[in-house]
Amino acid sequence: MPLADQPVKTRKGTFSESIASNKLEERTAYLVIGNCVDVMRTWPDNVIQLTVTSPPYDSLRDYNGYEFPFEDIADQLYRVTAEGGVVVWVVGDRINGGRSLTSFRQALYFQSIGFSAHDVMIYQKKNTPFMRSNAYTNAYEMMFVLSKGKPTTFNPLKEPTQRQGYEMLPHNKLPDGINKKKLGELKKEKTRTNIWSYAVGLGGTTKDKIAFQHPAVFPEKLANDHIESWSNPGDLVLDPMCGSGTTGKMALLNDRRFIGIDIATEYIEIARQRFRESGIDALLPAS
Ligand SMILES: C[S@@+](CC[C@H](N)C(=O)[O-])C[C@H]1O[C@@H](n2cnc3c(N)ncnc32)[C@H](O)[C@@H]1O
Repeated sequence: MPLADQPVKTRKGTFSESIASNKLEERTAYLVIGNCVDVMRTWPDNVIQLTVTSPPYDSLRDYNGYEFPFEDIADQLYRVTAEGGVVVWVVGDRINGGRSLTSFRQALYFQSIGFSAHDVMIYQKKNTPFMRSNAYTNAYEMMFVLSKGKPTTFNPLKEPTQRQGYEMLPHNKLPDGINKKKLGELKKEKTRTNIWSYAVGLGGTTKDKIAFQHPAVFPEKLANDHIESWSNPGDLVLDPMCGSGTTGKMALLNDRRFIGIDIATEYIEIARQRFRESGIDALLPAS
């Protein structure tokens, strides 16, 4: 039976009611086929803790005839995001002569409707850089971290410090400004910077071969790192343009709950198969 003919009701009422009463089942990905604006419109306000998503970039790729009403998507995202919730918007610009700067225009729009530009992070690609004959090789995309008010959750990811062990460290700085030094232990780790680097392609982005049937998958590790940073186990995570389901896979593996939407039935099918291969149940709720 075609996927679109298999709507499944949640066990606890309609899908919107289940979202409103925070009763979506754990360890289950909810996948919805449709224009995310129309789908989100049926939901209550302030219900999503974290969105990690990546829009189509300037019609760079053909996603089988999608519609991309950016401002409507942004408005709905603001409405459904919980107070203190976060949207991570991963976006690149078309480079055709010059850069389109669409990413910046989108970020300014998000700010104009009430989101705080909590951070502007860089997703650096360790390989497959985009070569230009008259400019430096492009090797990054933007990750706009947009919050509705002050973020309620920040679990900072740490990385090992380069130097470890004991060293003479500045100590007891008095008002006279003279530093004394004392033997002390260097910190073993520090909070990461806001530039994150990932290998891309098979094995880097993901080991799931099926995901590459989608033309623009982002790295699992990228989704994972944002999910750990801006949400806690049990929180509801959204990807309104979920493609092959990367955010969903990592949300479920981190004990979050997940809703994915995509306008293309074939991408929802890829996500569903990918979840199945990862041992994740997926339901297609009737909204
Ligand atoms: C850059 S891809 C997302 C890829 C995803 N992050 C992954 O790792 O597979 C963008 C997706 O947005 C979907 N899309 C475009 N417009 C949409 C809309 N209005 N509503 C829902 N999905 C949409 C496309 O079908 C495409 O799968």
